[in-house]
Order: sequence, then structure tokens, then C-alpha cells
Amino acid sequence: MNIRLYNEALEKAKSYGQEHLLKYVGELSCEEADKLLDQIVNIDFELSQKLFKMAKEEGESKSAQLNVTPLPCCEIASMSQDERERLESIGKNAISENKVCAVTVAGGQGTRLGHDGPKGTYSIGLPSGRSLFNILCDKLIRLCNENKGRIPWYIMTSTENNGQTVEFFEKNNYFGYPKEDVTFFIQGMLPIVDSKTGKILLRGKGEVAMGADGHGGVFKAMLDSGVLADMKKRGAEYVFLCGIDNVLVQMANPLFIGFAIDENTDCASKGIIKRDPYEKAGVFCYNNGKPAVVEYTELNDELRFAKYDNGEYKYGDINILNYVFKFSVLNNIANVGLPYHTAFKKAPFVNDDGVVVKPEKENGYKFETFIFDAFSQLNSMSVLRGVREEEFAPVKNKYGEDSPETARALLMAAGEN
Ligand code: UTP
Repeated sequence: MNIRLYNEALEKAKSYGQEHLLKYVGELSCEEADKLLDQIVNIDFELSQKLFKMAKEEGESKSAQLNVTPLPCCEIASMSQDERERLESIGKNAISENKVCAVTVAGGQGTRLGHDGPKGTYSIGLPSGRSLFNILCDKLIRLCNENKGRIPWYIMTSTENNGQTVEFFEKNNYFGYPKEDVTFFIQGMLPIVDSKTGKILLRGKGEVAMGADGHGGVFKAMLDSGVLADMKKRGAEYVFLCGIDNVLVQMANPLFIGFAIDENTDCASKGIIKRDPYEKAGVFCYNNGKPAVVEYTELNDELRFAKYDNGEYKYGDINILNYVFKFSVLNNIANVGLPYHTAFKKAPFVNDDGVVVKPEKENGYKFETFIFDAFSQLNSMSVLRGVREEEFAPVKNKYGEDSPETARALLMAAGEN
């Protein structure tokens, strides 16, 4: 065991009352011990302590802090053919001038899907057998070919799934995408703490329980990993950002890019009309005068059902994790940071007797940030409303709604296989 590292870890942990993290270090091999100590010295104890305090104080209901007004959107279906073509041609030009890049956040655990491996490696049962990564990649290939441009693709992974993700791309020859245009970068992790005591949990005797910092971690991870510097070097001006699990996502769609450029707002977001007032999704709005996404759980019934005279919901466009950011705003968001949300989870832990317990009830706080919380830092945002059947087929659950089966049917109905 590296004694210098041990002393550093002990001192750091002690000063925050977290020395239990080293309780079993004597039982570990040198290699295991160094790995644990390395984890401990890299923990931001200050932040962890602050977040636990915040979670405990978070008593007040969130809707009490809401002050929402509608954020009008622009609907593709209502545009004239000329207008669509105009926007499309702006987007196509930007692609052919290599001003567009794409970011896909793929660091999630995919807990609901329960796939053993990164979610992007999952195949939804198409005749072609394509995985989620392959489906998204094919869309980019088509776009690059049609517009004779290069679209650098940055994929965010987590420490847990990065190795398998890179291996999957290597094994599949990057699905025919130029390897030099694909960059993987790893998102941040935060310790999971005991919800009663704030003590950081050990997942095993030689491993601290850590959780990914949410998809909002993308901004900081892009800065820290050098992705923003790389984008700058390549001359990217517009950054398309999406998740990994919507098989109908229109990657860097020219009309959407053109819309973002034409609107000249800090960010353009794609939305679709909510299926019903209780659809489990956030809706676009202004909150305290700033662009925002408010979760369906935070809206009271008055807002949930509020309609315009023409019968449209005032808060009717759901967020589908599909954005175009101006490159120039990303650095600032990464530096300012995002607020943290607390998730109450069943987190396996080592108990006082040194036994790993898989709890039946929630016992741990995990802290996450969300991309859309960055909207409050923007000067402006525009929402473009697409058509659900052309835009949204998420793979969230193993069975039933938003499952591989529903996504497959929607993708095949859209003419893909
Ligand atoms: P979800 O919030 O749906 O999470 O992610 P998930 O991991 O896919 O599934 P569950 O909730 O565990 O069942 C939406 C998008 O954000 C990414 C996911 O990979 C997905 O593309 N994400 C989520 C991250 O990149 N990092 C995170 O920490 C969380």
C-alpha cells in the first residue's frame, strides 16, 4: 500500500468525519487498497457535505417556488414549404461548412431497461440487428454524405461504461464513421451518502459508492476533458446535443440547425406535444422570466390543464433531450455549474459488520444535475415543435410503454429497419 496516499486519504476523510471509508483498508491487497485510497483522495468532500445538508433542508415543495408563464413555440407543421426549405438550406450550409458537431450523452445506467452493458450497445430487435449507437451513427453518416461535411461526434460515457463503449465501437469498426471524428469523454461522479447520517457509503470494502452526476454533467465534462477545446479547434459553432435512447432522434437535423441559426438564440430546443396532461415528461416554459423545463410532477392541475382559446395546452411541449446550443455559451455554463437534484435510491452498502447489504428500502442520496437547468443561464431560447411520430421513440423500460418493442414499431413505421 502506498503510505503517502494512505496518509493523505485518512487526513482528508477525517477532516470531514468520513474516516470509516478506510475501515477495511487493512484487509485489502496492495492494489485494491491503492485503488480505494485513490478514490478517496479524489472525492470532493466539501461538495458532498453541502449536498447532504441541502437534501435534508429540502422540505419546501417545489411548486411553491414556481412562477411559470408559457414559452411559445414555433411549429414545423405550420410552416410554409418555402420557410422549411429556407431553414433547411441554412442548416445544410452550416453542416457543409463544418460548423456543426454532435454530442450524445450516454453515461446513464439504464436501470429501467436492465441491459447488461452500456445502453447504446442494446439492440431493439430490428431486422438489421442494429444497436442504439449504430442507429444514431447511421443518421450522422447519411447527413455527412448528403451535405459533404464532417460532423465530429462526442459521446459522453461514465467511468462504469466507458471501457465497454469504446470496445464496442472498436469491435464494430465505428459503424463506418471516421474514427478521427468520434471522441469519448467521461462524466463526473459523486459519492452516494447515507440518507440519515450523510456518511459516504462503501459499496464494497475496497470501493466507495459513487454515482454519475446526471446528464447535466456534460457541460463540466466537456470542459475538463478538452472536448470544448477540440470543438473550438475544429471551428464548431453549433452543438447538437441528444440522449442515446430515442431511436427517432433526428441527429443534427438541417431544419433544426437552420432554425437555431435563424433565431439566433443561445439554444434551440426540440419539443413535441404532450400525449396527455400526465405524460411523464418535463414541459418548456418560462420560470421567473427565464427559459426552463418544469417536470410534470411540479405542475399543479391548474397549470397542467391550462389551455389557450384555440384549445392548445399552454404548457404542452415536452422536452425530449434534443437541443442545438451555440458553442459560445457552453464554456460559461460549464464554469457557472448547475443546481443539484437529490434522488433517493436503494444503494448497496457495507454494514458495520463488514457485510454487503442490498437494502429493500431507499437508504442513500444520489446527486444529479440536468441539462435543462442550464436554460436559466441563457439570454434566450427558442422551441421548435416537431411531430411525435417523426421525433420520439424512447427506449426506457424493458416492457410496455417506451420499451424496445414500441421503439422498434415506431422506427419501422418511419421506414427504417
Ligand atoms: P435517463 O434519465 O433516462 O437515464 O437518461 P437512463 O440511464 O437512460 O435510464 P434509467 O433512468 O437508469 O432507467 C436520459 C439520457 O441521459 C443520459 C442517458 O445515457 C440517456 O441518454 N445520462 C443520464 C447520462 O449521460 N448520464 C447520467 O448520469 C444520466
